[in-house]
Amino acid sequence: MGTYAVTGSASGMGAAVVARLREEGHTVIGVDVQEADVVADLSIAEGRRSAAAAVLDRTGGALDGAVLAAGLGPAPGRERSRLIAEVNYLGVVELLEAWRPALAAADRAKVVVFSSNSTTTMPMVPGRAVRALLDRDVAKALRALDRFGRMAPSFAYGASKIAVSRWVRRTAVTREWAGAGIRLNALAPGAIRTPLLEQQLATPAEARRIKAFPVPIGGFGDPEQLAAWVVFMLSDAADFLCGSVVFVDGGSDAWFRAGDWPRAVPALRLRGYLRRMKEFRTGT
Ligand code: NAI
Repeated sequence: MGTYAVTGSASGMGAAVVARLREEGHTVIGVDVQEADVVADLSIAEGRRSAAAAVLDRTGGALDGAVLAAGLGPAPGRERSRLIAEVNYLGVVELLEAWRPALAAADRAKVVVFSSNSTTTMPMVPGRAVRALLDRDVAKALRALDRFGRMAPSFAYGASKIAVSRWVRRTAVTREWAGAGIRLNALAPGAIRTPLLEQQLATPAEARRIKAFPVPIGGFGDPEQLAAWVVFMLSDAADFLCGSVVFVDGGSDAWFRAGDWPRAVPALRLRGYLRRMKEFRTGT
């Protein structure tokens, strides 16, 4: 049986993951701003530091896996954009960096980060905000979002999930992660019936927008099903999964982006491709 850290453990998909892992007999350390083994506010640096340390204190040095589900959806106001940037992006990367040695100390540890299909289905998310988040400059990301007015929190959400997915893909394949035996991947759900979605459905205009959104399979996803995907991505069956963003979204991503990926490396980028081949071979 393993020891797992789960953020966002008090509600929605995080809570469903905790229940499944505990049913299977694993030890789970839940992290949340409320009702958790480790109560911490991931929207502030000190909260992230104390959450990371408190989890490590409880592990005895090795962590078999982590699930990063704490997150906030869009709601009105600039403060919401800040919360989204801090929790959805820094609340993932800072905790995982602190936990990396404990994950490396376990045998074939697995990490699942909650992304979203907003990464590919929300148009016009500003690249500057994504880049600022990857540079961990929240103030700069907020400035890049300011000109979008009341749409800013929605774009903050999209930017936070694109940034965290890129961080996962870039980080997963490095010597410190894949090379240390850690499998780092992301799960990108579509609209799933959790308190986060219910909050958005409570606003009539938002509800209309969400219900009009193309979902080829129809309806909303179920948190229990997504929890089953997470548990699968933590299992031995996922030993060969590394740096993937797994979409479980009823087909919305495929509806909008079917022709965008997979796509061969174009001739113009062949040099970069060959350079990456060499880098891998020589370990530089
Ligand atoms: P939820 O609202 O049910 O649960 C989120 C949890 O995060 C809550 O327990 C909340 O207390 C915690 N949290 C929020 N702010 C925090 C903070 N400052 N410090 C510590 N914990 C904090 O949401 P849900 O739907 O289960 O979302 C889980 C993840 O899945 C999130 O990252 C979300 O962005 C993502 N997601 C959700 C979708 C949906 O339709 N529900 C769709 C795509 C992605």
